[in-house]
Amino acid sequence: MNNIIFSLPGNEVLANTLANKLNIEMGSVEIRTFPDGEYYVCIHSDVKDKTAILICTLNHPNDKILLLMFVAQTLKKLGANKIYLVSPYLPYMRQDKQFHPGEAVTSYLFATFVSTWLDGLITIDPHLHRIKKLSEIYSIPSISVLHATKKIAEWIRQHVDSPFLIGPDEESKQWINEVAEYANAPFVICKKIRYGDRNVEISIPEIKHLGSVPVLVDDIISTGTSMTVILQQLVSHGYKNSICISVHALFDDEVQQNLIRAGATKIMTCNTIIHASNQIDLTDDIANCFY
Ligand code: R5P
Repeated sequence: MNNIIFSLPGNEVLANTLANKLNIEMGSVEIRTFPDGEYYVCIHSDVKDKTAILICTLNHPNDKILLLMFVAQTLKKLGANKIYLVSPYLPYMRQDKQFHPGEAVTSYLFATFVSTWLDGLITIDPHLHRIKKLSEIYSIPSISVLHATKKIAEWIRQHVDSPFLIGPDEESKQWINEVAEYANAPFVICKKIRYGDRNVEISIPEIKHLGSVPVLVDDIISTGTSMTVILQQLVSHGYKNSICISVHALFDDEVQQNLIRAGATKIMTCNTIIHASNQIDLTDDIANCFY
């Protein structure tokens, strides 16, 4: 493949690392905003007959998606034969059904929109719940879904003596199972009922691992509510040394402080979104998709 990599603003570290590792040309795109707030986009590289790989993780997607579409469509217009998106975090996966009359099912709408201008998508642990596979909603010809489970398990093996894993809800079973197997650790899955963005009820099954370290593993920490509720129950059962791990860090400093106050001694995430808590590097996993 004749490839060229473009970084969207804020993704330079991953883009440059991939370009160096894979020996792929870095493309040049000029992006600025006009005084009225509209985008100006200009591609300065020759992209004719090349596959353009756009690097743009899509946390805060509303701010980024329009720009991404402008860049992708312009590359196509300039003769790029394929447009691939590397978005380690894939947004709009949680409103995957209409819970109340009148609601937009944004998972489908977002997927339909993005699918019209992409030929390839590489992402990591998208939030698959009622939708079992991205191809159910994305019609992009090439989709690669990577998993952080092995790297998370490796981190646990190297850093935690006698861990036991806790999955906050039924959905977490898919990754807790694998992490537990690779890390050779026992696990429990909690039952969660969500009443609102910051209102969840979680029951933890009976834990028989006194003396072990609770390791909470989830795909996303956002408001931190799910983990906070579990941490509080763990503290009341005498566990004061819990570790929280998530793939995607959608949380801010205040949430981090809340988690610490609730009883977390460490909060670890993968580098799918740049964040101070990033400890688990998935760059090689992404690079492997292009060998
Ligand atoms: C959803 O069910 C996910 O797997 C996470 O449990 C959820 O997104 C975490 O969100 P929060 O941190 O706001 O509780």
